[in-house]
Amino acid sequence: MVLYQQSIDIILKNQHKSGAYIASPNFPTYAYSWFRDGSFIAYAMDRADYYESSRQFHLWCGKVIEHQASKIEALILQKKAGQGIKTEEYLPARYNLDGSPIGDDWTDFQLDGYGSWLWALNEHLQSRKDQSLLTAVIPAVELILKYLITFWDSPCYDCWEEHLEAIHLYTLASIHAGLISAQKILINQTRLPISETIEKIRTYIRDKAVHPDGYYRKLIYSNSTIGNPELTNMVDASLIGLAVPYEFQAVDHEIIYRTLQKIEHNLYYPHGGVYRNLNDTYYGGGEWILLAAWLGWYWCRIGQYEKAAQIKSFINKQADAAGNLPEQVSDHLLAPSYYPEWVNRWGEIASPLLWSQAMYIILCDELEDHEKSH
Ligand code: BGC
Repeated sequence: MVLYQQSIDIILKNQHKSGAYIASPNFPTYAYSWFRDGSFIAYAMDRADYYESSRQFHLWCGKVIEHQASKIEALILQKKAGQGIKTEEYLPARYNLDGSPIGDDWTDFQLDGYGSWLWALNEHLQSRKDQSLLTAVIPAVELILKYLITFWDSPCYDCWEEHLEAIHLYTLASIHAGLISAQKILINQTRLPISETIEKIRTYIRDKAVHPDGYYRKLIYSNSTIGNPELTNMVDASLIGLAVPYEFQAVDHEIIYRTLQKIEHNLYYPHGGVYRNLNDTYYGGGEWILLAAWLGWYWCRIGQYEKAAQIKSFINKQADAAGNLPEQVSDHLLAPSYYPEWVNRWGEIASPLLWSQAMYIILCDELEDHEKSH
Protein backbone atom coordinates (compact mmCIF):
# COMPACT_ATOMS: atom_id res chain seq x y z
CA MET A 1 0.00 0.00 0.00
CA VAL A 2 2.97 2.35 0.43
CA LEU A 3 3.48 2.95 -3.28
CA TYR A 4 -0.27 3.40 -3.75
CA GLN A 5 -0.37 6.31 -1.28
CA GLN A 6 2.93 7.70 -2.55
CA SER A 7 1.47 7.73 -6.05
CA ILE A 8 -1.57 9.69 -4.88
CA ASP A 9 0.69 12.15 -3.05
CA ILE A 10 2.92 12.59 -6.10
CA ILE A 11 -0.10 13.38 -8.26
CA LEU A 12 -1.55 15.83 -5.72
CA LYS A 13 1.78 17.56 -5.22
CA ASN A 14 2.17 18.01 -8.96
CA GLN A 15 -1.29 19.24 -9.75
CA HIS A 16 -1.02 22.92 -10.63
CA LYS A 17 -3.34 25.36 -8.87
CA SER A 18 -5.14 25.75 -12.20
CA GLY A 19 -6.20 22.07 -12.01
CA ALA A 20 -3.75 20.88 -14.70
CA TYR A 21 -1.62 17.80 -14.10
CA ILE A 22 1.97 18.21 -15.29
CA ALA A 23 3.12 15.14 -17.25
CA SER A 24 6.42 15.01 -15.31
CA PRO A 25 7.91 17.62 -12.98
CA ASN A 26 11.54 16.59 -13.56
CA PHE A 27 11.72 16.36 -17.30
CA PRO A 28 11.60 19.75 -19.06
CA THR A 29 10.08 18.34 -22.27
CA TYR A 30 7.08 17.10 -20.24
CA ALA A 31 6.50 20.29 -18.22
CA TYR A 32 3.02 20.61 -19.73
CA SER A 33 -0.42 19.07 -19.34
CA TRP A 34 -1.57 16.55 -21.93
CA PHE A 35 -5.28 15.78 -22.29
CA ARG A 36 -4.40 12.09 -22.71
CA ASP A 37 -2.21 11.71 -19.60
CA GLY A 38 -4.49 13.97 -17.58
CA SER A 39 -7.63 12.00 -18.38
CA PHE A 40 -6.13 8.77 -17.04
CA ILE A 41 -4.71 10.59 -14.02
CA ALA A 42 -8.13 12.10 -13.24
CA TYR A 43 -9.77 8.68 -13.58
CA ALA A 44 -7.18 7.18 -11.19
CA MET A 45 -7.90 9.94 -8.68
CA ASP A 46 -11.61 9.12 -8.91
CA ARG A 47 -10.86 5.49 -8.18
CA ALA A 48 -8.76 6.53 -5.20
CA ASP A 49 -11.66 8.76 -3.97
CA TYR A 50 -9.79 12.03 -4.53
CA TYR A 51 -12.70 13.56 -6.40
CA GLU A 52 -11.77 17.17 -5.79
CA SER A 53 -8.50 16.68 -7.66
CA SER A 54 -10.19 15.17 -10.72
CA ARG A 55 -12.95 17.78 -10.56
CA GLN A 56 -10.37 20.57 -10.77
CA PHE A 57 -8.76 18.89 -13.77
CA HIS A 58 -12.10 18.60 -15.58
CA LEU A 59 -12.87 22.25 -14.92
CA TRP A 60 -9.45 23.15 -16.32
CA CYS A 61 -10.12 21.12 -19.47
CA GLY A 62 -13.48 22.81 -19.89
CA LYS A 63 -11.90 26.27 -19.73
CA VAL A 64 -9.07 25.31 -22.07
CA ILE A 65 -11.53 24.08 -24.70
CA GLU A 66 -13.78 27.10 -24.36
CA HIS A 67 -10.76 29.34 -25.00
CA GLN A 68 -10.33 27.47 -28.27
CA ALA A 69 -13.98 28.01 -29.32
CA SER A 70 -13.38 30.40 -32.21
CA LYS A 71 -10.56 28.22 -33.51
CA ILE A 72 -12.77 25.12 -33.39
CA GLU A 73 -15.63 26.86 -35.21
CA ALA A 74 -13.23 28.20 -37.84
CA LEU A 75 -11.66 24.78 -38.43
CA ILE A 76 -15.08 23.20 -38.90
CA LEU A 77 -16.04 25.89 -41.44
CA GLN A 78 -12.75 25.40 -43.29
CA LYS A 79 -13.41 21.69 -43.54
CA LYS A 80 -17.00 22.21 -44.74
CA ALA A 81 -15.75 24.64 -47.37
CA GLY A 82 -13.27 22.01 -48.55
CA GLN A 83 -10.28 24.19 -47.67
CA GLY A 84 -7.00 22.54 -46.78
CA ILE A 85 -6.00 22.71 -43.11
CA LYS A 86 -2.34 22.74 -42.11
CA THR A 87 -1.32 20.25 -39.43
CA GLU A 88 -0.28 23.00 -37.04
CA GLU A 89 -3.70 24.67 -37.27
CA TYR A 90 -5.53 21.90 -35.37
CA LEU A 91 -5.99 21.89 -31.58
CA PRO A 92 -2.85 20.93 -29.70
CA ALA A 93 -2.40 17.79 -27.62
CA ARG A 94 -0.87 19.61 -24.66
CA TYR A 95 -1.09 23.04 -23.03
CA ASN A 96 0.80 25.18 -20.55
CA LEU A 97 -0.31 24.55 -16.99
CA ASP A 98 -2.19 27.84 -16.96
CA GLY A 99 -4.20 26.55 -19.93
CA SER A 100 -2.63 28.77 -22.58
CA PRO A 101 -1.46 27.24 -25.86
CA ILE A 102 2.30 26.54 -26.00
CA GLY A 103 2.77 27.59 -29.59
CA ASP A 104 5.95 25.60 -30.20
CA ASP A 105 6.84 23.16 -32.91
CA TRP A 106 5.47 19.83 -31.57
CA THR A 107 3.73 16.80 -33.04
CA ASP A 108 0.55 18.33 -31.77
CA PHE A 109 -2.30 17.15 -33.95
CA GLN A 110 -3.59 14.22 -31.89
CA LEU A 111 -7.29 13.54 -31.51
CA ASP A 112 -7.25 10.77 -28.89
CA GLY A 113 -6.80 12.99 -25.84
CA TYR A 114 -10.10 14.77 -26.45
CA GLY A 115 -11.96 11.47 -26.74
CA SER A 116 -10.28 10.28 -23.54
CA TRP A 117 -11.32 13.45 -21.79
CA LEU A 118 -15.01 12.88 -22.59
CA TRP A 119 -14.63 9.32 -21.34
CA ALA A 120 -12.94 10.35 -18.07
CA LEU A 121 -15.40 13.20 -17.53
CA ASN A 122 -18.37 10.88 -17.87
CA GLU A 123 -16.77 8.38 -15.47
CA HIS A 124 -16.40 11.19 -12.97
CA LEU A 125 -19.94 12.46 -13.45
CA GLN A 126 -21.38 8.95 -13.11
CA SER A 127 -19.79 8.50 -9.71
CA ARG A 128 -20.48 12.07 -8.50
CA LYS A 129 -23.78 13.62 -9.38
CA ASP A 130 -22.14 17.03 -9.62
CA GLN A 131 -24.58 19.44 -11.22
CA SER A 132 -22.33 22.50 -10.99
CA LEU A 133 -19.45 20.71 -12.73
CA LEU A 134 -21.84 19.47 -15.40
CA THR A 135 -23.19 22.97 -16.02
CA ALA A 136 -19.68 24.37 -16.18
CA VAL A 137 -18.39 21.88 -18.76
CA ILE A 138 -21.38 21.50 -21.08
CA PRO A 139 -20.27 24.21 -23.55
CA ALA A 140 -16.84 22.55 -23.80
CA VAL A 141 -18.38 19.10 -24.25
CA GLU A 142 -20.48 20.39 -27.15
CA LEU A 143 -17.53 22.13 -28.77
CA ILE A 144 -15.22 19.16 -28.58
CA LEU A 145 -17.98 16.87 -29.81
CA LYS A 146 -18.41 18.99 -32.94
CA TYR A 147 -14.65 18.89 -33.42
CA LEU A 148 -14.42 15.09 -33.09
CA ILE A 149 -17.49 14.50 -35.27
CA THR A 150 -15.91 16.64 -38.00
CA PHE A 151 -12.36 15.31 -37.87
CA TRP A 152 -12.52 11.73 -36.52
CA ASP A 153 -11.35 10.20 -39.82
CA SER A 154 -8.46 12.61 -40.41
CA PRO A 155 -5.00 11.06 -40.24
CA CYS A 156 -3.25 12.48 -37.15
CA TYR A 157 -0.39 11.64 -34.80
CA ASP A 158 -1.01 8.61 -32.59
CA CYS A 159 -0.90 8.50 -28.79
CA TRP A 160 2.90 8.12 -28.99
CA GLU A 161 2.97 11.27 -31.12
CA GLU A 162 4.14 9.47 -34.26
CA HIS A 163 2.88 8.60 -37.76
CA LEU A 164 0.90 11.63 -38.85
CA GLU A 165 0.29 9.87 -42.16
CA ALA A 166 -2.10 7.26 -40.73
CA ILE A 167 -5.35 6.66 -38.86
CA HIS A 168 -4.78 4.91 -35.56
CA LEU A 169 -6.96 2.28 -33.99
CA TYR A 170 -6.32 3.50 -30.46
CA THR A 171 -7.31 7.02 -31.52
CA LEU A 172 -10.54 5.78 -33.11
CA ALA A 173 -11.37 3.77 -29.98
CA SER A 174 -10.83 6.83 -27.76
CA ILE A 175 -13.06 8.94 -29.98
CA HIS A 176 -15.68 6.19 -30.09
CA ALA A 177 -15.67 5.95 -26.28
CA GLY A 178 -15.73 9.74 -26.06
CA LEU A 179 -18.84 9.97 -28.24
CA ILE A 180 -20.69 7.32 -26.23
CA SER A 181 -19.68 9.14 -23.05
CA ALA A 182 -20.90 12.45 -24.45
CA GLN A 183 -24.30 10.90 -25.16
CA LYS A 184 -24.53 9.98 -21.50
CA ILE A 185 -23.35 13.40 -20.35
CA LEU A 186 -25.80 15.27 -22.57
CA ILE A 187 -28.56 12.67 -22.09
CA ASN A 188 -29.31 12.93 -25.80
CA GLN A 189 -30.17 16.61 -25.50
CA THR A 190 -28.25 17.57 -28.59
CA ARG A 191 -28.89 17.63 -32.30
CA LEU A 192 -25.32 16.69 -33.13
CA PRO A 193 -25.08 13.45 -35.15
CA ILE A 194 -23.41 11.44 -32.38
CA SER A 195 -25.06 8.07 -33.05
CA GLU A 196 -24.40 8.35 -36.78
CA THR A 197 -20.72 9.05 -36.16
CA ILE A 198 -20.44 6.15 -33.72
CA GLU A 199 -21.90 3.90 -36.42
CA LYS A 200 -19.47 5.25 -39.04
CA ILE A 201 -16.49 4.57 -36.77
CA ARG A 202 -17.69 1.03 -36.09
CA THR A 203 -18.16 0.31 -39.78
CA TYR A 204 -14.80 1.85 -40.62
CA ILE A 205 -13.02 -0.30 -38.05
CA ARG A 206 -14.88 -3.43 -39.09
CA ASP A 207 -14.07 -2.89 -42.77
CA LYS A 208 -10.47 -1.71 -42.56
CA ALA A 209 -8.82 -2.51 -39.28
CA VAL A 210 -9.02 -6.26 -38.91
CA HIS A 211 -5.93 -8.11 -40.07
CA PRO A 212 -6.60 -11.36 -42.01
CA ASP A 213 -5.17 -13.21 -38.99
CA GLY A 214 -8.04 -11.86 -36.93
CA TYR A 215 -6.46 -9.14 -34.76
CA TYR A 216 -6.71 -5.35 -34.83
CA ARG A 217 -4.01 -3.51 -36.68
CA LYS A 218 -2.08 -0.67 -35.06
CA LEU A 219 -2.94 1.70 -37.90
CA ILE A 220 -4.70 2.15 -41.21
CA TYR A 221 -3.81 4.29 -44.21
CA SER A 222 -6.36 6.27 -46.12
CA ASN A 223 -7.03 4.84 -49.60
CA SER A 224 -4.73 7.23 -51.43
CA THR A 225 -1.66 6.58 -49.27
CA ILE A 226 0.87 3.88 -50.03
CA GLY A 227 1.37 2.44 -46.58
CA ASN A 228 4.12 0.59 -44.81
CA PRO A 229 3.00 -3.06 -44.46
CA GLU A 230 5.28 -3.56 -41.47
CA LEU A 231 3.18 -1.03 -39.57
CA THR A 232 -0.22 -2.22 -40.78
CA ASN A 233 0.64 -5.77 -39.74
CA MET A 234 1.82 -4.98 -36.25
CA VAL A 235 0.03 -4.54 -32.96
CA ASP A 236 0.69 -1.72 -30.56
CA ALA A 237 0.29 -1.93 -26.80
CA SER A 238 -2.11 1.02 -26.89
CA LEU A 239 -4.66 -1.40 -28.40
CA ILE A 240 -5.24 -2.69 -24.86
CA GLY A 241 -7.40 0.43 -24.67
CA LEU A 242 -9.96 -1.15 -27.01
CA ALA A 243 -10.68 -3.67 -24.23
CA VAL A 244 -10.20 -1.47 -21.16
CA PRO A 245 -11.26 1.16 -20.56
CA TYR A 246 -12.94 1.98 -23.87
CA GLU A 247 -14.85 -1.29 -24.18
CA PHE A 248 -15.02 -1.05 -27.94
CA GLN A 249 -16.11 -4.67 -27.75
CA ALA A 250 -16.45 -7.11 -24.88
CA VAL A 251 -13.16 -8.18 -23.31
CA ASP A 252 -13.76 -11.73 -24.49
CA HIS A 253 -14.73 -10.81 -28.07
CA GLU A 254 -12.60 -12.93 -30.39
CA ILE A 255 -10.85 -10.07 -32.22
CA ILE A 256 -10.07 -8.32 -28.94
CA TYR A 257 -8.85 -11.63 -27.53
CA ARG A 258 -6.55 -12.29 -30.50
CA THR A 259 -5.22 -8.73 -30.37
CA LEU A 260 -4.44 -9.01 -26.70
CA GLN A 261 -2.83 -12.42 -27.20
CA LYS A 262 -0.55 -10.91 -29.79
CA ILE A 263 0.31 -7.99 -27.52
CA GLU A 264 1.14 -10.40 -24.71
CA HIS A 265 3.24 -12.53 -27.02
CA ASN A 266 5.12 -9.74 -28.83
CA LEU A 267 5.27 -6.90 -26.34
CA TYR A 268 5.16 -8.26 -22.78
CA TYR A 269 8.55 -9.07 -21.30
CA PRO A 270 7.81 -12.08 -19.05
CA HIS A 271 7.70 -10.96 -15.40
CA GLY A 272 8.58 -7.49 -16.61
CA GLY A 273 7.00 -4.58 -18.42
CA VAL A 274 5.41 -3.88 -21.79
CA TYR A 275 6.94 -2.34 -24.92
CA ARG A 276 4.92 0.19 -26.94
CA ASN A 277 5.59 -1.67 -30.20
CA LEU A 278 8.45 -3.55 -31.80
CA ASN A 279 9.60 -0.51 -33.76
CA ASP A 280 10.11 1.67 -30.71
CA THR A 281 13.47 3.41 -30.45
CA TYR A 282 12.54 6.21 -28.00
CA TYR A 283 15.15 5.97 -25.21
CA GLY A 284 16.17 2.69 -26.83
CA GLY A 285 12.63 1.27 -26.63
CA GLY A 286 12.21 0.20 -23.00
CA GLU A 287 9.40 -1.46 -21.04
CA TRP A 288 6.72 1.06 -20.09
CA ILE A 289 5.35 1.05 -16.57
CA LEU A 290 1.98 2.48 -17.54
CA LEU A 291 1.53 -0.17 -20.22
CA ALA A 292 2.44 -2.94 -17.78
CA ALA A 293 -0.25 -1.67 -15.40
CA TRP A 294 -2.67 -1.35 -18.34
CA LEU A 295 -2.12 -5.00 -19.33
CA GLY A 296 -2.61 -5.94 -15.66
CA TRP A 297 -5.87 -3.99 -15.67
CA TYR A 298 -7.06 -6.04 -18.65
CA TRP A 299 -5.96 -9.27 -16.97
CA CYS A 300 -8.08 -8.36 -13.94
CA ARG A 301 -11.05 -7.84 -16.26
CA ILE A 302 -10.65 -11.35 -17.70
CA GLY A 303 -10.07 -12.91 -14.29
CA GLN A 304 -6.32 -13.51 -14.57
CA TYR A 305 -5.55 -11.99 -11.20
CA GLU A 306 -2.31 -13.85 -10.56
CA LYS A 307 -0.73 -12.48 -13.68
CA ALA A 308 -1.99 -9.03 -12.77
CA ALA A 309 -0.47 -9.35 -9.31
CA GLN A 310 2.86 -10.26 -10.91
CA ILE A 311 2.75 -7.01 -12.83
CA LYS A 312 2.07 -5.15 -9.61
CA SER A 313 5.18 -6.66 -7.98
CA PHE A 314 7.22 -5.80 -11.05
CA ILE A 315 6.10 -2.18 -10.78
CA ASN A 316 6.75 -2.10 -7.03
CA LYS A 317 10.39 -2.91 -7.79
CA GLN A 318 10.72 -0.04 -10.27
CA ALA A 319 9.86 2.75 -7.80
CA ASP A 320 12.55 4.70 -5.95
CA ALA A 321 12.34 5.27 -2.17
CA ALA A 322 10.06 8.28 -2.65
CA GLY A 323 7.73 6.20 -4.82
CA ASN A 324 8.66 7.85 -8.11
CA LEU A 325 7.84 5.68 -11.11
CA PRO A 326 9.61 6.32 -14.41
CA GLU A 327 8.05 6.35 -17.84
CA GLN A 328 10.02 3.28 -18.91
CA VAL A 329 12.76 0.99 -17.65
CA SER A 330 15.82 0.13 -19.70
CA ASP A 331 16.83 -3.38 -18.60
CA HIS A 332 15.94 -5.07 -21.89
CA LEU A 333 15.98 -2.43 -24.60
CA LEU A 334 14.68 -3.15 -28.08
CA ALA A 335 17.12 -0.74 -29.73
CA PRO A 336 19.92 0.00 -27.21
CA SER A 337 21.99 2.14 -29.57
CA TYR A 338 19.31 4.86 -29.47
CA TYR A 339 19.39 5.25 -25.70
CA PRO A 340 22.39 7.65 -25.38
CA GLU A 341 21.07 9.79 -28.21
CA TRP A 342 17.85 10.51 -26.29
CA VAL A 343 19.64 11.10 -23.00
CA ASN A 344 21.84 13.68 -24.73
CA ARG A 345 18.83 15.30 -26.28
CA TRP A 346 16.31 15.49 -23.42
CA GLY A 347 18.07 14.17 -20.28
CA GLU A 348 17.42 11.05 -18.17
CA ILE A 349 14.09 9.20 -18.59
CA ALA A 350 11.17 11.12 -17.06
CA SER A 351 10.47 10.21 -13.43
CA PRO A 352 8.04 10.52 -11.85
CA LEU A 353 5.69 10.26 -14.80
CA LEU A 354 2.25 11.04 -13.38
CA TRP A 355 0.58 8.75 -15.92
CA SER A 356 2.70 5.81 -14.62
CA GLN A 357 1.65 6.59 -11.03
CA ALA A 358 -1.98 6.79 -12.17
CA MET A 359 -2.02 3.45 -13.95
CA TYR A 360 -0.45 1.83 -10.90
CA ILE A 361 -3.28 3.24 -8.75
CA ILE A 362 -5.86 1.81 -11.16
CA LEU A 363 -4.22 -1.62 -11.15
CA CYS A 364 -4.07 -1.69 -7.33
CA ASP A 365 -7.71 -0.69 -7.15
CA GLU A 366 -8.75 -3.43 -9.59
CA LEU A 367 -6.85 -6.03 -7.56
CA GLU A 368 -8.32 -4.73 -4.33
CA ASP A 369 -11.89 -4.86 -5.69
CA HIS A 370 -11.28 -8.52 -6.47
CA GLU A 371 -9.83 -9.27 -3.00
CA LYS A 372 -12.80 -7.57 -1.33
CA SER A 373 -15.29 -9.64 -3.30
CA HIS A 374 -13.57 -12.91 -2.26
C1 BGC B 1 4.29 9.86 -25.01
C2 BGC B 1 2.90 10.40 -24.90
C3 BGC B 1 2.70 11.14 -23.60
C4 BGC B 1 3.80 12.17 -23.37
C5 BGC B 1 3.72 12.79 -21.99
C6 BGC B 1 5.27 11.00 -24.79
O1 BGC B 1 6.57 10.50 -24.88
O2 BGC B 1 4.52 9.26 -26.26
O3 BGC B 1 1.97 9.35 -24.96
O4 BGC B 1 1.45 11.76 -23.62
O5 BGC B 1 5.04 11.57 -23.52
O6 BGC B 1 3.74 11.84 -20.98
